[in-house]
Amino acid sequence: MTTIAQVSDLHFGSEDPATTETLIHELNVAELDLVILSGDLTLAARHDEFERAREFIDRLKAPTLAVPGNHDVTPWNIPERLLHPWRRWRHYIAEDLEPAWFGPDVAVVGLNTARRMRLKLDWSHGSLSRGQIRTLDERFVVAPDGAFRIIVAHHPFLEEEGADLATRPKAIVQRAKKALKVFVDERVDLVTAGHLHRTYAAAFETAPATSAVVAEAGEAAHRVTVIQAGTALSSRTRGEANAFNLIEIADGRMEVRAVTWSGVKWARNPDPLVVIERPSSATK
Ligand SMILES: [Fe+2]
Ligand SMILES: [Fe+2]
Repeated sequence: MTTIAQVSDLHFGSEDPATTETLIHELNVAELDLVILSGDLTLAARHDEFERAREFIDRLKAPTLAVPGNHDVTPWNIPERLLHPWRRWRHYIAEDLEPAWFGPDVAVVGLNTARRMRLKLDWSHGSLSRGQIRTLDERFVVAPDGAFRIIVAHHPFLEEEGADLATRPKAIVQRAKKALKVFVDERVDLVTAGHLHRTYAAAFETAPATSAVVAEAGEAAHRVTVIQAGTALSSRTRGEANAFNLIEIADGRMEVRAVTWSGVKWARNPDPLVVIERPSSATK
């Protein structure tokens, strides 16, 4: 079995130290193969916040795969933001802004959706460039045959079904639709994201654009499931408990369930957010 935790929006700078200790313990006893950190590790990209994020990572037994969030680019030092937006991330977290991790039955690929600036007024929103979308196939070249394919990004790709868009800002990443179509072509199973501080799952399903992929996969349509994680530590919970997602993969089956903080302990939700089953013959 491969077990992965998706931990998002830690926001060091607004964390509760006692809850931080329980989260580190919870992640370490789970004997994880990988911890995904889907951005917003800090509140305002301050050095002391990055230091606490680094200490958190160093205390985890499992390897981590981290992509930046909009809060991880300094909002105070504008010259640094514009000229060297990833300097602090690279110093404290990782040199590679879009890392990948490959296990025997899963391929995990990171995409950086945070931006130093945008043409629109709100710089907290995310984007994917045409180049990031166009070269996605190269990122999966070394994925094992039949492996589940997971994308990690900070900004969301799909709204929650039935969400009341009038009551909160729309924060879907720019070029999400275009990217989702390429995710279908690349047989991506799961997209893990954060930013909204809300846990939910949503699905995008369509036929692949290239007939070769259809013939190879032996099916007309492919479903990409997006899972959003709540904030694991921040007090900015927007009405939901602190939470992270647990991804378990075994025997061609992937299950994702939320693990929520009750104020006393972390509890696994008995009902999975999503179950994805892979026919044993399916390979890319
Ligand atoms: Fe956040
Ligand atoms: Fe964010």
